[in-house]
Amino acid sequence: MTDLADIHWTKICEPGELPVGERREATLDNGQMVLVIRTPDLLRACPADCPHQDTPLLDEGLVDGNVLTCTAHYWQWNLETGEALEGAEMPLPLFPVRESEEGIFVGYAQA
Ligand code: FES
Repeated sequence: MTDLADIHWTKICEPGELPVGERREATLDNGQMVLVIRTPDLLRACPADCPHQDTPLLDEGLVDGNVLTCTAHYWQWNLETGEALEGAEMPLPLFPVRESEEGIFVGYAQA
Protein backbone atom coordinates (compact mmCIF):
# COMPACT_ATOMS: atom_id res chain seq x y z
CA MET A 1 0.00 0.00 0.00
CA THR A 2 1.23 3.48 -0.90
CA ASP A 3 1.92 5.80 2.00
CA LEU A 4 0.22 9.20 1.51
CA ALA A 5 3.60 10.84 2.09
CA ASP A 6 4.83 9.15 -1.11
CA ILE A 7 2.07 10.67 -3.25
CA HIS A 8 2.79 13.62 -5.51
CA TRP A 9 -0.25 15.86 -5.97
CA THR A 10 -1.03 17.80 -9.16
CA LYS A 11 -3.47 20.71 -8.97
CA ILE A 12 -6.28 20.23 -11.50
CA CYS A 13 -8.39 23.33 -10.96
CA GLU A 14 -9.69 25.84 -8.47
CA PRO A 15 -12.36 24.82 -5.95
CA GLY A 16 -15.82 24.94 -7.50
CA GLU A 17 -14.54 24.76 -11.08
CA LEU A 18 -15.82 21.20 -11.44
CA PRO A 19 -19.55 21.20 -10.66
CA VAL A 20 -21.65 18.07 -10.22
CA GLY A 21 -22.12 16.27 -13.52
CA GLU A 22 -18.97 17.76 -15.05
CA ARG A 23 -15.69 16.11 -15.98
CA ARG A 24 -12.41 17.33 -17.36
CA GLU A 25 -9.15 15.97 -18.69
CA ALA A 26 -5.95 17.00 -17.01
CA THR A 27 -2.26 16.18 -17.25
CA LEU A 28 -0.47 15.13 -14.08
CA ASP A 29 3.03 16.41 -13.40
CA ASN A 30 4.41 13.04 -14.57
CA GLY A 31 2.73 13.49 -17.98
CA GLN A 32 -0.08 11.02 -17.34
CA MET A 33 -3.49 12.08 -18.66
CA VAL A 34 -6.44 11.64 -16.32
CA LEU A 35 -10.15 12.25 -16.42
CA VAL A 36 -11.60 13.89 -13.31
CA ILE A 37 -15.29 13.22 -12.76
CA ARG A 38 -17.72 14.66 -10.23
CA THR A 39 -20.99 12.81 -9.65
CA PRO A 40 -23.56 13.84 -7.02
CA ASP A 41 -21.75 11.47 -4.61
CA LEU A 42 -18.15 11.22 -5.74
CA LEU A 43 -15.07 13.03 -7.00
CA ARG A 44 -12.93 10.54 -8.91
CA ALA A 45 -9.97 10.46 -11.29
CA CYS A 46 -9.22 7.66 -13.74
CA PRO A 47 -7.05 7.33 -16.84
CA ALA A 48 -8.22 9.66 -19.63
CA ASP A 49 -8.35 6.76 -22.08
CA CYS A 50 -10.41 3.58 -21.79
CA PRO A 51 -8.36 0.61 -20.54
CA HIS A 52 -9.86 -1.50 -23.33
CA GLN A 53 -8.71 0.22 -26.53
CA ASP A 54 -7.60 3.70 -25.44
CA THR A 55 -10.76 5.51 -26.52
CA PRO A 56 -10.88 8.97 -24.89
CA LEU A 57 -13.37 8.72 -22.03
CA LEU A 58 -14.02 12.47 -22.18
CA ASP A 59 -15.76 11.87 -25.52
CA GLU A 60 -17.01 8.27 -25.18
CA GLY A 61 -17.56 8.00 -21.45
CA LEU A 62 -21.10 8.17 -20.16
CA VAL A 63 -21.68 8.73 -16.45
CA ASP A 64 -24.96 7.60 -14.90
CA GLY A 65 -25.04 7.82 -11.14
CA ASN A 66 -21.76 6.26 -10.04
CA VAL A 67 -21.39 4.09 -13.15
CA LEU A 68 -19.03 4.98 -16.00
CA THR A 69 -19.75 3.41 -19.39
CA CYS A 70 -17.37 3.57 -22.34
CA THR A 71 -19.79 3.70 -25.25
CA ALA A 72 -17.22 2.34 -27.72
CA HIS A 73 -17.86 -1.26 -26.58
CA TYR A 74 -20.00 -0.72 -23.47
CA TRP A 75 -17.57 -1.66 -20.76
CA GLN A 76 -18.83 -0.38 -17.42
CA TRP A 77 -17.24 0.38 -14.06
CA ASN A 78 -18.31 1.31 -10.59
CA LEU A 79 -16.74 4.74 -10.02
CA GLU A 80 -16.82 4.29 -6.27
CA THR A 81 -14.44 1.33 -6.36
CA GLY A 82 -13.19 0.99 -9.95
CA GLU A 83 -14.74 -2.49 -10.00
CA ALA A 84 -15.50 -3.93 -13.43
CA LEU A 85 -19.22 -4.22 -14.12
CA GLU A 86 -21.15 -5.20 -17.24
CA GLY A 87 -18.87 -6.18 -20.11
CA ALA A 88 -15.61 -4.91 -18.64
CA GLU A 89 -12.77 -7.41 -18.46
CA MET A 90 -10.59 -5.38 -16.13
CA PRO A 91 -11.10 -2.86 -13.33
CA LEU A 92 -10.77 0.88 -13.84
CA PRO A 93 -7.64 2.25 -12.16
CA LEU A 94 -8.49 5.13 -9.82
CA PHE A 95 -6.13 7.87 -8.68
CA PRO A 96 -6.25 9.48 -5.24
CA VAL A 97 -8.16 12.79 -5.29
CA ARG A 98 -8.39 15.49 -2.66
CA GLU A 99 -10.28 18.77 -2.58
CA SER A 100 -9.76 21.76 -0.33
CA GLU A 101 -10.14 25.53 -0.51
CA GLU A 102 -6.85 25.48 -2.45
CA GLY A 103 -8.27 23.37 -5.27
CA ILE A 104 -8.83 19.89 -6.60
CA PHE A 105 -5.72 17.72 -6.65
CA VAL A 106 -5.02 14.31 -8.19
CA GLY A 107 -2.15 12.22 -6.88
CA TYR A 108 0.17 9.52 -8.09
CA ALA A 109 2.78 7.43 -6.34
CA GLN A 110 6.30 8.76 -6.79
CA ALA A 111 8.83 6.21 -8.02
S1 FES B 1 -12.58 1.19 -26.04
FE1 FES B 1 -13.79 1.49 -24.27
S2 FES B 1 -14.94 -0.31 -24.13
FE2 FES B 1 -13.71 -0.65 -25.86
